[in-house]
Amino acid sequence: MGISFRRVGANLAAEVEGIDLAAPLPDADRDAIRDGLAEHQLLIFRDQVISSDRLMEFGRSFGELSVHPFAPHVEDTPALIRFENDAETPPFGTDVWHSDETFRAAPPMATALCAKVVPEVGGDTVFASMSTAYEGLSERLRALIDGLQAVHDIKPFKAIFEDTPEDRSELQKFEAIYPPMTHPVVRVHPVTGRRVLFVNPQFTIRIKDMDERESASLLDTLFHQALIPEYQYRLHWRPHTLAMWDNRSVQHYAVHDYWPQARIMDRVTIKGTRPVGLEAADPATVKRPKTLITGAVSHGAHKPHLVEDDIREDAPAAE
Ligand code: SIN
Repeated sequence: MGISFRRVGANLAAEVEGIDLAAPLPDADRDAIRDGLAEHQLLIFRDQVISSDRLMEFGRSFGELSVHPFAPHVEDTPALIRFENDAETPPFGTDVWHSDETFRAAPPMATALCAKVVPEVGGDTVFASMSTAYEGLSERLRALIDGLQAVHDIKPFKAIFEDTPEDRSELQKFEAIYPPMTHPVVRVHPVTGRRVLFVNPQFTIRIKDMDERESASLLDTLFHQALIPEYQYRLHWRPHTLAMWDNRSVQHYAVHDYWPQARIMDRVTIKGTRPVGLEAADPATVKRPKTLITGAVSHGAHKPHLVEDDIREDAPAAE
């Protein structure tokens, strides 16, 4: 029997049958998975007893693996993330709707997550099809957001740095490597051509060029789309379930209700390309009228200048 896809969710998710991921992946199956991923957005492989090395090989069949700068990884294997949670180590930061690593210039194209230890109850992951979420917006709202850009940031990971001079300087290094990144609010999926709502509450901080209050309320409305059950699929993990999601078109939320039970998951992430959007909107149409008065300088008399006292205040204390 060859590989086949059995649709299990109305708007995303298929169970993949007729394949053993413990064995090397034939090219034809790899191509079928690549196509199936774009079509179904979330693929679920049940009863796959595979080693972490095999998981990494599986991921590499689809492209280069990326290394997460903050997530916990297996020692000496930076590309292999291990979420190993129990009473002493509560889960952190995955119970927020997100696409993986959108703080990067080129966020991953896909993620593969494999369940090693699952709790007796709880610990599901909820996925949302962000192409269906986009299509569920009114035509007027779609017209408003098509062509807008949004800024994504490493903000959730700033919490792992302490308020010490060492950590502050360490954080500055990360901020220099991962500066705020602009992506289209609506990206065009490179395989299907479908439009995808590409903002998420974990990493997206504002709409570019827009007044702060308008930006916040628009983002709130857009973030809400992932919460609509019709666009979701809730995955109940069993040991040896492997899920692969299309990070270009899906958001996910790991439900932390299982804690303090144990849950161990291995994850690899496959590098992607820069998101491509629609024709860029004219920034002037995004600004509030008072900043548009002909000839007016929108920053007033404000300009950046270093304040000597503040620089001294920030400097390490003299011995
Ligand atoms: C993740 O956000 O990649 C983790 C998902 C999960 O633990 O279910």
